[in-house]
Amino acid sequence: MKKRVGIFVSGGGSNMRALVEDMGRDHPAEPVVVVSNNPHARGITWAQDAGLATVVVDHYPFGRDRAAFEAAITEALAPHDLDLICLAGFMRVLTAGFVTHWRDRMLNIHPSLLPKYRGLHTHARALEAGDTEHGCTVHLVTPELDDGPVLGQVRVPIHAGDTPDDLAARVLVQEHRLYPAVLRRYAAGDRAPLML
Ligand code: GAR
Repeated sequence: MKKRVGIFVSGGGSNMRALVEDMGRDHPAEPVVVVSNNPHARGITWAQDAGLATVVVDHYPFGRDRAAFEAAITEALAPHDLDLICLAGFMRVLTAGFVTHWRDRMLNIHPSLLPKYRGLHTHARALEAGDTEHGCTVHLVTPELDDGPVLGQVRVPIHAGDTPDDLAARVLVQEHRLYPAVLRRYAAGDRAPLML
């Protein structure tokens, strides 16, 4: 039986597209629903056009009550009977309660070579630090932000004169290789880190 995957997005959803397209080929998992906290996420429009089920729970009316926001998501997800969640540019921090419920069943992609640069503005921070390489990481989600076991990484060079946008674009190309490759292995039961 294929693993049933929910993909969480907040914006453009290019990583979601890479995952969905890869699952369209012979694959141990299938995409069943795309979730967003952002009613205007372009990723949601793409998912609808692709014929996928979508769930939008706007975080704004919940204010600081993250648990209530997540409870609404959990309720909407129940009929989809998910095995795995892939966070793909999902820009809300999740509570320990939600994360613990999905322990070992929730993956995230982060645009840095973790453990370097957890959180936001990773490309600018790598440039400010004078790093010569940067990259992206797929990891299991644990309650500490961007801290779970690494499932895969890709390194990219930093070139003289790079802007944060140049670097983000170079990393994003590699994210689209890494995340599908890691999900394919993980859904088949292989947790060994993949270093591309
Ligand atoms: C990606 O670069 C992803 O790694 C990053 O947001 C971008 C989403 O792009 N995620 C984070 O920063 C998570 N903290 P996408 O919507 O085109 O996939």
